Amino acid sequence: GILLDTTCKSRFSFGAGNKQILQISVAHGPMNLIFIPGPRPEDVLRRYHELTGKMAMPPRWALGLQQCRYSYYPEHELLAVAQNFRDRNIPCDVLYLDIHYMDGYKGFTVDKSRFPDLAATTKKLLDAGLRVVPIQDPGIKAECGYLPFDDGKKDEVFVKYPDGEDWIAGVWPGDCVFPDFTSEKGRAWWSALSARWVEETGVSGLWNDMNEPAVWGQDVPDMLEFNLESRGGSHAEAHNVYGQLMASASRRGLMLAKPGERPFVLTRAGFAGIHRYAAVWSGDNVANEEHMFLGIRLVLSMAMSGVSFSGPDVGGFVGDAGKNLFMRWVSVASFFPIFRLHSMIDSRDNEPWSYGELAEAIAGNYIRLRYKLLPMLYSAMAVSSQSGLPVLQPFFWSRPSLEFEPVFQHLFFFCQNLLIIPSASDQHAVWAGLPEGNFYHLFTGQCFTGNQNLWIASPVDTLPVLVKAGSILLTQSVGTCTEDSGAGGIVLHIFYGEGKANLTFHTDDGISLHPEAGDIEQWEI
Ligand code: GLC
Repeated sequence: GILLDTTCKSRFSFGAGNKQILQISVAHGPMNLIFIPGPRPEDVLRRYHELTGKMAMPPRWALGLQQCRYSYYPEHELLAVAQNFRDRNIPCDVLYLDIHYMDGYKGFTVDKSRFPDLAATTKKLLDAGLRVVPIQDPGIKAECGYLPFDDGKKDEVFVKYPDGEDWIAGVWPGDCVFPDFTSEKGRAWWSALSARWVEETGVSGLWNDMNEPAVWGQDVPDMLEFNLESRGGSHAEAHNVYGQLMASASRRGLMLAKPGERPFVLTRAGFAGIHRYAAVWSGDNVANEEHMFLGIRLVLSMAMSGVSFSGPDVGGFVGDAGKNLFMRWVSVASFFPIFRLHSMIDSRDNEPWSYGELAEAIAGNYIRLRYKLLPMLYSAMAVSSQSGLPVLQPFFWSRPSLEFEPVFQHLFFFCQNLLIIPSASDQHAVWAGLPEGNFYHLFTGQCFTGNQNLWIASPVDTLPVLVKAGSILLTQSVGTCTEDSGAGGIVLHIFYGEGKANLTFHTDDGISLHPEAGDIEQWEI
C-alpha cells in the first residue's frame, strides 16, 4: 500500500498512457509517501488503520434500507412514503429530507409551509421505526438578519480572501459564505448550530453535501485563506480536507445533541481518515447499466482504500432506470454497506414500488434478505471497526496470485463468505470465476466446484449469490425496521464443507457509543 500524506492537489496515474510507470505527483509542498507492507491486502489495511484511525461503529439503524429523493415534500408526501413501506411490508429505517425542506434553501431553517411542525413529524416517524436524516450544505446565505450569517460574521468563522473580504459564491440559496472547517473555532461554531437544530427538529443523522466545496460557475480560488489548525494556509492545501472536517463537525454536533449515542453522518467529500467520522456515498450518478457497474467498482475501491461504509445512489440519480435495471440494482446494492435509494428532481421515483408489481416483489425480496442477513453485516462492521478488514472484498483478493482480472472486477465477497456475482440486467447468465473450495448457490442450493471459471444463470429475478462450502451464515427474522427485526434469535446455517469454519459474531444494543461490557457479545465460531 502507498499512502500519499498530503492534502494538496495530487495526481495518480496507474498505467494510463504508460503501462510501465506508475506516476504520482503533488502540486505543492513536500511529497511524503508512506509505504505500507503486506503481504496480504488485509495486512495493508490493518496498518493503514493504525495510521489513520479506526472506523466509527455506526448505529445499527444506519445499516437498514435508506430511502431518499430530491425531495420529499410537503409533509404528507414524506408520510405517504413511510406509510407505503409499512403497508407493503418492505422494511426501511431511514427517510431523507433533501433541500426543499429548508426555507429558501437556507441551512438550519425549515419551510413551515411544507413542514409546519418538523419535530412532530420526526417523532411520528420515529415511533414507526423510521429515522429522518436531512441534508446540510456548507454554504451559508450571505443575508443580514439570517441568524447563522450574522452569528458567523460576529464570530469570524467564514473563509476570506487575503485582503480580509469574505469569499462569496453561489449555491442553492444564492450568494453564500463558507465556514472555515479547518479551524477549531469554525468547527465548534458549526457543531453548536447543528446540535441546537438537531435538538429542535428531532432528526436522527446529518447528510453533508456539496462539501468539496462545490459552487456555481467558478473554481474555488486557490488564494483563499484558511486557518489550517492555526498554521495558516491557502485553499490549495485546504480543499481536500474541507469536506472531511465539515463531516467531523457535523458528527460532533450530533454527539452534543445526543450524548452517548452513535452519530450517523453521510458525506459526499472526504479524505484519508473519513471513516472515523462518516459514511460516504458516491455522489450523482446516472440511471444506466454502466453506472450500476461503476458504483460497484467505486464501492470496492473505497473498501480497498479504508472506507468500508459506502454506497452509491441506488436506481440512479439522473434519469429512468427502467424495470429490469432497477431490480438488478436493488439486488446488488442490498449487499452494500450503505443501501440508499435516491433520485433527482424531475427524474423517475426510485422507491421499491416505483416500477410495478414484479419489480416491487423482487426488490422487496432482496431488501428483506438484507435485513435477514443483518447479524452478519453488523458483525462484519464491528470487525471492520476493530481491525480495518473491509466488509466487502474484491474477488481478486481470493486468488493466491492476487492477479487483477478485469473480467471479474465486479465480483465481490460480502462478509467474507458470500460471493456476489453482479450481472447486467438483460444478461441471463454471467461469466464468473470461483476461487478454491466448493460453493453453494444461496437460492437454489446447487453445488459448484471451485477453482474454475464458468457461466452461472442470472435471470433478472435471481442475482447469483454463492456461499463458500464450510462456512456459517447467520440470519434473523425480518420486521419493519432493524429495531423490530431479530425477534426469535439468530439462526445458524451451516454449509457443509471440508476444513474449519471461521466466523465472528458481534452484537450490542446497536446505539450506544460505549455499550456496557455486559451488553456486548462477541464470539468466534
Ligand atoms: C447534489 C447531491 C444530490 C442532491 C442534490 C440536491 O447534487 O449530490 O444527492 O439530491 O444535490 O440537494
